[in-house]
Amino acid sequence: MELTSPAQWYGAAFWLILGLCPLVFGGLLLLPASYGRHKKDKPHWLWGPGIPTRWAWVIMEAPSSLGFAVIYLWGPHRFEPAPLVLFLMWQSHYFQRSFIFPFLIKTRPGDTTPVSIPVMAVSSNLVISFLNAAILSWDGIGRGYATAWLWDPRFIVGAIVFVIGYRTNRKADAMLAALRKPGETGYKIPRGWLYDKISCPNYFGEFLVWTGWAIATWSPGGVAFLLWTLANLLPRALQNHRWYHQKFPDYPPQRKAVIPYLL
Ligand SMILES: NC(=O)c1ccc[n+]([C@@H]2O[C@H](COP(=O)([O-])OP(=O)(O)OC[C@H]3O[C@@H](n4cnc5c(N)ncnc54)[C@H](OP(=O)(O)O)[C@@H]3O)[C@@H](O)[C@H]2O)c1
Repeated sequence: MELTSPAQWYGAAFWLILGLCPLVFGGLLLLPASYGRHKKDKPHWLWGPGIPTRWAWVIMEAPSSLGFAVIYLWGPHRFEPAPLVLFLMWQSHYFQRSFIFPFLIKTRPGDTTPVSIPVMAVSSNLVISFLNAAILSWDGIGRGYATAWLWDPRFIVGAIVFVIGYRTNRKADAMLAALRKPGETGYKIPRGWLYDKISCPNYFGEFLVWTGWAIATWSPGGVAFLLWTLANLLPRALQNHRWYHQKFPDYPPQRKAVIPYLL
């Protein structure tokens, strides 16, 4: 099939991401992504050599901020109020994730992340940025966002869920960063707030952010990204939860993995 119009590119990108979701989910259940606590001690041929973890974060997330901005600014509706508000919502998350979060985490000295992880993330993040940026400002894709969209109940409910998720994700990541005092490199049991209910409130917050985005944009791109996030982070949440139980015999038994009271 020839791809001659933006709508056709959009459809192809959407089905690509949707088709990859079950593969990513199944693959990550079998083989945990090799970074952070699940990193293999010895380099594995599949994951490749390591690069400093902070820079791995910048490299893999920057396309979601800068790439998204370029694609968005390409579109003729870039200076209209509703697309601009949605653009700023996206950037509020991804500018922080790309350029601030990597310098807030407490990495272990010499900590590296295998190069295959940022390489895979850059390509998927560019496709996902296209799906979510082009639909805001380009012609010929999706509904178009007139100013009245800002009063639509779908936008209002979505924006509220997005903000709750954003605050949850930031607070959870900040609590993890605060666990390691200067010079410390190990792991501790996080306690208090949502950590008394689940092992991974940062991932729970991430799920809320992209659920809110999917509702606020009411778009195929939003749905595709939510499913992509779940495919990536649900396996990891279960693996982190199991890891806590193995590492800490006194780990609180009532905690769930990632959805309070449920999972
Ligand atoms: N949208 C997506 O698909 C997606 C995908 C991946 C990540 N993310 C987001 O990116 C952020 C980071 O993800 P992540 O998988 O790296 O999260 P993570 O495994 O929870 O780790 C976050 C940071 O906290 C440290 N840490 C975690 N648990 C700790 C403990 N018990 N004691 C001391 N330090 C601890 C980690 O150190 P170590 O590195 O030394 O383990 C790392 O620096 C999250 O907000 C997540 O939602 C989003």
